[in-house]
Amino acid sequence: MARLDPHSYTDSSHPLAKHVALTLYFDFAANTIHGSALLTLPSAHTGHLLLDTRSLLVHSVIDPVSGAPIPFSFPSSDDPVFGRPLSLSLSAQSAALIVFCTSPSSSALQWLSPAQTASKAYPFVYTQCQSIHARSIFPCQDTPAARLTFSARLNLPSPLTAVMAAARAADTRDPIAGEAGPACSDALWCSPGRAVEEFVMDRPIPTYLFAFAAGCIASRDVGPRTRVHAEGGLVLLDAAAREFAGAEDMIRAGEALFGPYEWGRFDLLVLPPSFPYGGMENPMMVFLTPTVIKGDASGAQVVAHELAHSWTGNLITNKTNEHFWLNEGFTTYAERRIVEVVQGEERAVLNTGIGWKGLNEEMERFADNMEFTKLKPNLEGIDPDEVYSQVPYEKGFQFLWRIERQIGRLAFDVFVKKYIATFKFQSIDTETFLEFLKVNVPGIENQIDLKLWVEGTGIPPDAMEPVSTIYSKIVSLANEFKQGKIPKEEEVADWSGQEWELYIENLPKSVEASQVASLDARYQLAESRDYEVKVAFLQLAVSSGCKEYHGEVESTLKQVGRMKYLRPLYTALVHGTGDEEKMLARRIFAEARDSYHPIAQGVVQSILAKHS
Ligand code: BES
Ligand code: ZN
Repeated sequence: MARLDPHSYTDSSHPLAKHVALTLYFDFAANTIHGSALLTLPSAHTGHLLLDTRSLLVHSVIDPVSGAPIPFSFPSSDDPVFGRPLSLSLSAQSAALIVFCTSPSSSALQWLSPAQTASKAYPFVYTQCQSIHARSIFPCQDTPAARLTFSARLNLPSPLTAVMAAARAADTRDPIAGEAGPACSDALWCSPGRAVEEFVMDRPIPTYLFAFAAGCIASRDVGPRTRVHAEGGLVLLDAAAREFAGAEDMIRAGEALFGPYEWGRFDLLVLPPSFPYGGMENPMMVFLTPTVIKGDASGAQVVAHELAHSWTGNLITNKTNEHFWLNEGFTTYAERRIVEVVQGEERAVLNTGIGWKGLNEEMERFADNMEFTKLKPNLEGIDPDEVYSQVPYEKGFQFLWRIERQIGRLAFDVFVKKYIATFKFQSIDTETFLEFLKVNVPGIENQIDLKLWVEGTGIPPDAMEPVSTIYSKIVSLANEFKQGKIPKEEEVADWSGQEWELYIENLPKSVEASQVASLDARYQLAESRDYEVKVAFLQLAVSSGCKEYHGEVESTLKQVGRMKYLRPLYTALVHGTGDEEKMLARRIFAEARDSYHPIAQGVVQSILAKHS
């Protein structure tokens, strides 16, 4: 018995399921899903089959052919991070039908009451499965080493619409008696006012890409293969449609660089403000925070990133989270290449600069924990949400950019295309990448210290800060702030959010309170509509002991649940000069907690716990 992945109970000697057929009955009154999962193995198996579960109640396991029960047990107790393994005892069976129920605390699901939605009239539910939360929706081999296809039949109250990161298999229809099997009684399934929606994903995907949302969702086409969906009414939909009008140009840029787009549709779903990430690359339908819609097309970077995952991440997937850089580092590289095509080189360099600053900051965050500054860290026993950082993104980007500089862009482009064509629909590890690199770029190991890049801590000496006139100008303006100089109006006249973000992030961590106030008096950064700017500024204000911004910090923490904003603001508060800030952090969290996604709740909880 050996684990395939430190974050999954999946046993390397067991077969991997190749398909799951899901039947899901949504109970919005109880914030639960009654469901069944019919798992199909590649061939008949005798003996144990270990699956991951978390916060799931398993009612029964049935042989779908004979209808006989399949014995099951939970061989170990519940781990707060990894959940508990479900062991099925199979005898020459190639399928198992598991009947289960989710719990209101299932970590992948956020249930919003009507009052918490923009519609104010209908509830909303959505998923976030990466990294290891799919197991809180249905029992599965929850490791990216395994890929499977799926079909899903969803039963919802009929005024609600469901969307999935999958293809729609049929029009919305009335429920049919008997079709739910043991997942749910006919009385419930066929009760008045319910409707059924069906989806399929016919390309094998890892479980972390499983995704759906249901609620009052409006939609509009913005391109030949792109439709924008949003909970938030027509005003938001209009703004989103404008912001994402360039999606098709990006897909074409991606195809030119990385090969055909293999997923059919590229739809976008704008979630409520509590969505814990900027974007999530769910296949065929990317999930996005509404904070990327700023009316200035800057959301393009996040869309470019999630689109880039269609090649690097969704086609080629990291085998385990220890190789997460293969997903995120490659995607950050690909994102910047797409941005360069659609928005120009200056914009791409600016993004690289923001990333460079972020990478350097992570080195300070992990000064006592250098393991997490490695491209390939040891994550045995570690919660991936806890150690989420810029390292896989930006060190990964730097590694690939270093190789590009060594062999030249033309050769590197050929290499990347071949890499994608070779490993598509596979889950691979760092060693597989390095082997492929050495075979295709003979002698590379004599030119670049691959071992240092992959196994070493910190930032290798041959990493590079980007160079460009605008980037260097912003960084030097930020340095001049130390001498009390605030940029002149004409110097910032053409700055957009990203220029300000880069500027603020390059200021010292804490400055004189009076300087913070005069910067804000001139440029109204605390009130910026751009959350990147607003949060960077508020973080500086809190770290500089400016109490007059506590009100703005509080309202920000109550408006959004994106962890990129929650982490720095809560961290700045708990590191605050006095107890006042710590108490404020605790009070805000107590009041805002219910509006956060369970994953964000866990992350904030752990920030507060470290400083109690
Ligand atoms: N796949 C990630 C989000 C993620 C990572 C979710 C790890 C759960 C665990 C997504 O592609 C991402 O990186 N999003 C970024 C976007 C940014 C880099 C443009 C984000 O959310 O900030
Ligand atoms: Zn990503």
